[in-house]
Amino acid sequence: MTDPTGAESTAHTDGTAVRGDRFSGGPARGFLSSLGADARIFEADIAVDRAHVVMLAETEIIDATAAGTILQALDTIAIEGHDALEGGEDVHEAIESAVIEQVGPEGGKMHTARSRNDEVATCIRYRLREDLLEAIDAAIGLREAFAAVATDHRETVMCGFTHLQPAQPTTLAHWAVSYERALTRDTERLFEAFDRTNQSPLGSCAFGGTPFPIDRERTATLLGFDGLVENAMDGASSRDFLLEATTALAGLATTLSGIAEDLVIYANRGFVELDDDYASTSSIMPQKKNPDSIELVRSTAGIAHAGVTGLLNTLKGLPRAYNIDLQNATPHAWDTVDAVTEATTVTAGAIATATFQVETLEAAAGEGFTTATGVADQLAMGGLPFRTAHEIVAQAAQHGSDLEAIRDAADEILEEPLETYCSENTIEKRLDPSQSVADRSSRGGPAPAAIDSQLELLTTELTEHENELEARNQSLVSAHEQLAEVTHQYV
Ligand code: ARG
Repeated sequence: MTDPTGAESTAHTDGTAVRGDRFSGGPARGFLSSLGADARIFEADIAVDRAHVVMLAETEIIDATAAGTILQALDTIAIEGHDALEGGEDVHEAIESAVIEQVGPEGGKMHTARSRNDEVATCIRYRLREDLLEAIDAAIGLREAFAAVATDHRETVMCGFTHLQPAQPTTLAHWAVSYERALTRDTERLFEAFDRTNQSPLGSCAFGGTPFPIDRERTATLLGFDGLVENAMDGASSRDFLLEATTALAGLATTLSGIAEDLVIYANRGFVELDDDYASTSSIMPQKKNPDSIELVRSTAGIAHAGVTGLLNTLKGLPRAYNIDLQNATPHAWDTVDAVTEATTVTAGAIATATFQVETLEAAAGEGFTTATGVADQLAMGGLPFRTAHEIVAQAAQHGSDLEAIRDAADEILEEPLETYCSENTIEKRLDPSQSVADRSSRGGPAPAAIDSQLELLTTELTEHENELEARNQSLVSAHEQLAEVTHQYV
């Protein structure tokens, strides 16, 4: 523990270097500490320290020599990693202690014009940005998997369900695009959460700003932030960006849970065969192939919703400004983003490798008289009030669901023959599930031509989102490179 002048430093690596001997021990020490959980923001903290020190030197708040010494120590600490930190209340304090241990009291200049309050808020935003981009990447991967299914199965007719009861024939493409569209909105919400997260609170200090002539724009730029959280009290105390990100992820998890439920049911019906990589077997029943991974995907919504609830309950009622309750808010976001990103990736793999059983799907397409609506529509097109047509087909549904049953019902209900409204030949056609799908070419419908327009839109938006993701990734990478370059001018 010597400083560059060779003098004995008074630094201690347990945090007393930072705050003196008061409040440094006692039974609540472990309870207070977030050091373990802070491993997640170790690299973020090093980056934030570097940017802050560079800014302090550029504004001549500290001299270039002190900056160089501190930045050199940070390099060593970065290489040694989080596990080498010797303790302290959190990663911010532990890194500062390690700097002071290496360079002596000069190291204490690093914490000029800032507080752990703006430091931690900056670190969380810095790290969460990367996590959100990974989540977006996973969501885009899943959308690509659905797009491929849709492209391959424009004409694969299947049964569409409502209330899980056979409802109307549709196509596998229509089903796949329906999920791709929901995932597109989930992606948009993640982008919005990213953009609001990507604002720098650094320079807020404890909450009340500072008399030092700091340059907040400069640290924001060095760290790749898009702008500033303007108000210092807001910057140090607000965590709605965590809530927004977690809520966006919970929305995605909710979509995933629906997809998972469909896959479990479709596997049960023999509509889909999951690849062995996404299934598991029973330890006792040798014949079993269970959709285990998919069930875990379904349950991920539980983790995400717990994250949202945990955050809402931790954040509610907190007074301004900083309160250490916020330390317990952060892990809800980490748990959520990890679980949801992994589940999204697993789902993408499962969809991309699944075998959809076209014959089984087509054989079940007409089950439960799914063509009934099309028959009623046809009668209504012939001039019969739709309500009357509905009554006739509903009665036929109870007596055979075929042409004969429709004719009998019409005889009972109508004054005139069925043929007044539509030929029997035409009705026969409407009873065919493939024809039923082809008939529904309204915008957004399942007819192959309608699907083609949807696929066109989907492809455009997918490309746009891929580009937006790339731009954000690239901007983080350049900030990274810029910070490294500027830092090394001092070392
Ligand atoms: N580790 C804390 C957190 O995660 C930051 C430290 C601020 N502590 C304090 N007592 N002001 O929020």
